[in-house]
Amino acid sequence: MNRLDGKVALISGAARGIGAQTARRMAEAGAKVVIGDVLDAVGNETVKEIVSGGGEARYVTLDVTLEADWTRAVDEAVSHYGGLDILVNNAGLFIGQDFEEVGVETWNKLVAVNLTGVFLGTKMCAPALRERGNSSTHGSAIVNLASVAGLVGSQLDPLYSMTKGGVTLFTKSTAVAFGRKGDRIRVNSIHPGVIETDMGAHTFVARAAQVGTNDVEDARAQSLKMHPIGRLGVADDIALGIVFLASDDAGFMTGSGLVVDGGYTAQ
Ligand code: NAI
Repeated sequence: MNRLDGKVALISGAARGIGAQTARRMAEAGAKVVIGDVLDAVGNETVKEIVSGGGEARYVTLDVTLEADWTRAVDEAVSHYGGLDILVNNAGLFIGQDFEEVGVETWNKLVAVNLTGVFLGTKMCAPALRERGNSSTHGSAIVNLASVAGLVGSQLDPLYSMTKGGVTLFTKSTAVAFGRKGDRIRVNSIHPGVIETDMGAHTFVARAAQVGTNDVEDARAQSLKMHPIGRLGVADDIALGIVFLASDDAGFMTGSGLVVDGGYTAQ
């Protein structure tokens, strides 16, 4: 189940957090993994850890907002590993400020990473994914990191929510568009609840600031209350879902959203 033997994956924003854990799980499942990020030192450490555990991985500097970086990242996958079967559009930013206080410069940065990054990743990887998709049983796969904030409104960060809502529908639209063109590329999104990563910690700080305190522990407790399952998520909860969506076990899934949120959106 959920094996990725012989597959090549490119994961953006995979130096740390959900992306790094996805890289570890994909390598364990038999994939060769290209980790792209702007945090070169952290990314190289993650690669070292995967390789020392017996996995295959490489690091490439990838700022998802730059077309030339995507070209280099795809070249890295094709020249070293022979092609590309899986793209995970994982890199993302969270602002966590009242939208009435956010300037256009900050907004543009958010859009550049959360939306332009997903557009460019999909566009620049499509030719390589198309090629491998035509010769594999269930085609190639793209997994986009959306969020619960891409399904329901976020009082914490409406701007982040707007970008993740965009990712949700870009996922469905590209699934339909690839299908229409006869391309064997499945596209699905994943929708995490609050996950204990650097970004998760940032949401607690933002939640505390919203009520005028710096009591991050209380904010964390408030956040926990929004998850009926009784705990916050960890990166592995999401990584396992991404591996499933990328694997042939999800061969009849495209244009779908996998909600992994501890019940956050069930209420
Ligand atoms: P994180 O902040 O721990 O990691 C994000 C990674 O993206 C970092 O390694 C960072 O260097 C990289 N990144 C940022 N800008 C980049 C750029 N321009 N080019 C390439 N890489 C860049 O965040 P986390 O929690 O691992 O989030 C991963 C994804 O999951 C994001 O898309 C996020 O929006 C989404 N998500 C996270 C949730 C959470 O509670 N942590 C909840 C729902 C969704």
